[in-house]
Amino acid sequence: MSKKKKKVRWIKHYNSAQKILLVGEGDFSFSACLARAFGSGRNMVATSLHSKRLLAEKHWSSEEHLEELESLGCLVLHKVNVHKMSYHHTLKHMEFDVVVFNFPHAGHVSGYTEKDEELIEMHKDLLRGFFKSARGMLVKEGGEVHVTHRDDYPYNKWELEVLGAESGFCLKERVRFEKGDYPGLLAEKHWSSEEHLVELESLGCLVLHKVNVHKMSYHHTLKHMEFDVVVFNFPHAGHVSGYTEKNEELIEMHKDLLRGFFKSARGMLVEEGGEVHVTHRDDYPYNKWELEVLGAESGFSLQEKVRFEKRDYPGYHNKRGGDSSCNKTFPLGFECFTLKFSVRTENVLEISCNRIRSMTLN
Ligand SMILES: C[S@@+](CC[C@H](N)C(=O)[O-])C[C@H]1O[C@@H](n2cnc3c(N)ncnc32)[C@H](O)[C@@H]1O
Repeated sequence: MSKKKKKVRWIKHYNSAQKILLVGEGDFSFSACLARAFGSGRNMVATSLHSKRLLAEKHWSSEEHLEELESLGCLVLHKVNVHKMSYHHTLKHMEFDVVVFNFPHAGHVSGYTEKDEELIEMHKDLLRGFFKSARGMLVKEGGEVHVTHRDDYPYNKWELEVLGAESGFCLKERVRFEKGDYPGLLAEKHWSSEEHLVELESLGCLVLHKVNVHKMSYHHTLKHMEFDVVVFNFPHAGHVSGYTEKNEELIEMHKDLLRGFFKSARGMLVEEGGEVHVTHRDDYPYNKWELEVLGAESGFSLQEKVRFEKRDYPGYHNKRGGDSSCNKTFPLGFECFTLKFSVRTENVLEISCNRIRSMTLN
């Protein structure tokens, strides 16, 4: 009896019959997406430069993708440096139909921008090392190297074609990268976050993930702190298929988010002069959220309403949120304001009275 042939499953350029090596993975969401589409990861090796521990710190979302990859039989390797991957103790015994490096980036250097020649040279060097190593890791016939990259200035200064040519590669095809082709690219939600996180870290800012405004006042770290200002820019409870922003149900969801935020923030402010700032569009249907009323429910009163100008915050990009186009910006219109709330005076008095009362009782 003839053996039943296994169906080859495809996603975009990739299929389950290819031997695929992925390098420089971030949170492994791309690898997980391919393995999911193939129904198996046995034809893939997914790698990152970082150790598993560092990865968990840098990319909190990596955990679920690593679990998924493991369950689908994908070989995952950490600490794989593209400069020397062809000598790697496991990889040196393997060969691949495709070697993939998505959005290569050699890292950030404080004081430099992506336009600086020195940084561009660092990126080019990374790509040179990658092409050189990948050259010896491909099957003899039809092997390919795929690099996904921004092709606008200053990224086009990297001259990928030239770098590839230096290692004997020629450009076969150039296909527009569409995130929508790879369902579930969660890490890619905000691909631009990586450079900002690095910068924040280097500047000593405490960055916390998985902070839900509904329960932030109980957060294990935040509960020990108090703030002069708590800021929530463009709050949005998410999108629901079939609903527009005008739908009462969606408006109620947004209001609920704000209610939770105000309620939690109330207990996180310094005793005197603490403020809550919410930046929000104030045209229809966003003005239906009635921020002032929601603030008042938690004892806040509106102190000031200042027109929000994006140019006041160089480098800031307001983001959509949601899934497919969450990293995209959205129009701010002309009715965008920062609303500054503080605790209502009578409440401050009430708190002080209560404190005095409890002191005299003790
Ligand atoms: C902009 S991120 C892209 C991450 C991921 N490929 C993606 O598309 O989401 C650049 C990646 O290049 C990796 N990288 C930088 N230098 C590397 C090296 N020498 N070897 C392997 N990966 C490297 C970083 O660890 C980082 O994950």
